Amino acid sequence: MITSSIEQSDDTKLDITLRPQTFEEYFGQKKTKKNLRILIDAAKKRGEPIEHVLLYGPAGLGKTTLAHIIANEMNASIRATSGPAIEKVGDLGSILTNLGEGDILFIDEIHRLNKLIEEVLYPAMEDFKLDIIIGKGPSAKTLQLDLPRFTLIGATTRLGSISSPLRNRFGVVNRLDFYENEEIENIVRRSANILSVPIDSAGAKSVSRSSRRTPRVANRLLKRVRDYTQVQDQNTITEDLCRAAFENLEIDELGLEPTDRYILETIINKFNGGPVGLSTIAAATSEETETIEDVYEPYLLQIGFLARTPRGRVATEAAYRHLGLAYNKEQGNKLF
Ligand SMILES: Nc1ncnc2c1ncn2[C@@H]1O[C@H](COP(=O)(O)OP(=O)(O)OP(=O)(O)O)[C@@H](O)[C@H]1O
Ligand SMILES: [Mg+2]
Repeated sequence: MITSSIEQSDDTKLDITLRPQTFEEYFGQKKTKKNLRILIDAAKKRGEPIEHVLLYGPAGLGKTTLAHIIANEMNASIRATSGPAIEKVGDLGSILTNLGEGDILFIDEIHRLNKLIEEVLYPAMEDFKLDIIIGKGPSAKTLQLDLPRFTLIGATTRLGSISSPLRNRFGVVNRLDFYENEEIENIVRRSANILSVPIDSAGAKSVSRSSRRTPRVANRLLKRVRDYTQVQDQNTITEDLCRAAFENLEIDELGLEPTDRYILETIINKFNGGPVGLSTIAAATSEETETIEDVYEPYLLQIGFLARTPRGRVATEAAYRHLGLAYNKEQGNKLF
């Protein structure tokens, strides 16, 4: 899926090329930026590392980017890893013992850390201590190592999947939100500039509208319209070129793709608009529940096409209208 907010293999290079290095280049997320600025300035004044930071929010909104910016601002080295990559307690032990004073450890998808490893992290975060067990059985001994004062930055798309003991050990918890269209427009203009592709103002607006309010998607769409523009022997990306490129890709002016529409149509046609449970939707559309929850649903909820009720998902009037389907009052009552 082209508009998926989840990182894809050919994104990695693009992500790195286009990744902002400073708060000034990082558009939007005003509240989070303000909080982090204060945290960083105060820590710098005290000559100490910053507290542990947890960043959460849907995929592709800029969590990894922020972690790198924080490291930059602190003049700190950053070591990046992810929950699933840390398989054994020893893996974490060697990462921690190799950190230097003030270094930043970035753990992406931190909700996927296994329990045993999480427990090693607690004393490391709290007291900068690492407990190592040597030997087995009754003769086993615990050895305690001092760790340098490091900062853990955790990132997750699922705050609810993080155990409360882990969550409580973060001094700061920040939520990233979907971007405003104007903010995405700025990101598109900046990226076009870095990629040396001229784009006019209506073109930037058009890319931004279809980007699901997500920077990663904006950059990916920009790359696709750039290719289309070149194939058409044109120089500047315009609204018309965007429209034609997105039509080819079956992306509409709200950034919805065929699967989004299929999910909504399924809820409406097969389940009379809902409420219907996530796993039922998944079975009826042959999609994985996780894919629906992580990729499709966050944006559909954000633009108000889907609503969550205690009895399941409901398609809203706006979704009916967008798909050109008739809606009646009786359906509206299901939301309550
Ligand atoms: N505020 C921003 N301003 C400009 N560009 C941004 C911003 N946020 C993200 N980007 C761009 O979007 C890309 C994706 O961001 P990033 O990798 O930080 O997302 P993420 O939240 O870590 O996603 P995931 O949850 O998939 O790990 C980056 O390469 C960067 O170019
Ligand atoms: Mg990331």
